[in-house]
Amino acid sequence: MKITVLSRSASISSTRRIVEAGRARGHRVRVLNPLRVQMHLDGGSQAILYDRKKLTPTDVVIPRIALSISTYGLAVVNQFGLARVPLVNHAQAIAQSRNKMRALQLLSAHGIDIPATVMARDAAHLKEMVGLVGGVPVLVKLLQGQEKHGVMVCESLQSLEAALEAVLGLGHNLVMQEYVRSTGQDVRVLVVGGEAIAGVLRKPRPGRLSHTLNRGARLEALALSPSQRATAEKVARLVGLEVAAVDILDVQGHPKVFEVNSSPALLEMEAATGMDLATPIILRAEALVAGAAPVWSAALETPQALPPPPGRKGVVKVNAPRS
Ligand SMILES: Nc1ncnc2c1ncn2[C@@H]1O[C@H](COP(=O)(O)OP(=O)(O)O)[C@@H](O)[C@H]1O
Ligand SMILES: [Mg+2]
Repeated sequence: MKITVLSRSASISSTRRIVEAGRARGHRVRVLNPLRVQMHLDGGSQAILYDRKKLTPTDVVIPRIALSISTYGLAVVNQFGLARVPLVNHAQAIAQSRNKMRALQLLSAHGIDIPATVMARDAAHLKEMVGLVGGVPVLVKLLQGQEKHGVMVCESLQSLEAALEAVLGLGHNLVMQEYVRSTGQDVRVLVVGGEAIAGVLRKPRPGRLSHTLNRGARLEALALSPSQRATAEKVARLVGLEVAAVDILDVQGHPKVFEVNSSPALLEMEAATGMDLATPIILRAEALVAGAAPVWSAALETPQALPPPPGRKGVVKVNAPRS
């Protein structure tokens, strides 16, 4: 079959691994830079161009859209979806995983344990808000549009105030999170086609400040526990991702999910586990082309946990301002 990998460069290690694995299974694999794709819509039809020339058809698309080009890249993925090409990650599932606030809401609403989180648009009543996430130290997460986010640990209310002043001054939303301390293990689970296929432990390199958190983590193979496996699989299904790295802080057997990644780096994880992690992605692409139900369709069927409808008793009374 014909596989299209959407990636800015064929030399990116994960892209290269997917191409190799696809060719090893006898497929024709091409890498297209999503930024060189043009999309045409006219109300009735859709066309996909590459360098302004009509693109030859493909059987399946494997998107590897960098965070920095998310908006355009996901429009390209979606254009293939409109043309009914199976996607090994639906555009909306990728978008959902990249919106941290949205992803945490979705998981929490479906009973997935997450670190206690507060989202706010200003820093009023800071003490109470910090109390909601278990007091200091707390994590402040930056969600800067499409860019790579940053994470800061604030040890005291004073340092938090200073950090927030900067964060809010830049126009960011504010996400504060319970800091799950050293008792927690940082676990990444790779889920493909709804099944957890590999796990690694992420350890900060010795000598690095714990404040830098995951920058340059060292990976170690990990035999997944049943709860880690079940949690990761449920998360991938909820978000609707065919390929997902589910990041978990495991506190004595209780997995708390803090992030879902849709384009996980493969090479480092392969080196740590000694496993081929690219071929399962190709096998999943084959299954989708053969008519397997996409994970995304199951995610859409999942009833969203909404608050109970406001019956008579539930009506919130708002005091009308006195005139
Ligand atoms: N609630 C938390 N408690 C403790 N450590 C955390 C928490 N959330 C994230 N981390 C650590 O910080 C790192 C970066 O956080 P993450 O949410 O993955 O942000 P990024 O967008 O930078 O990947 C994680 O890999 C993890 O090691
Ligand atoms: Mg992360």
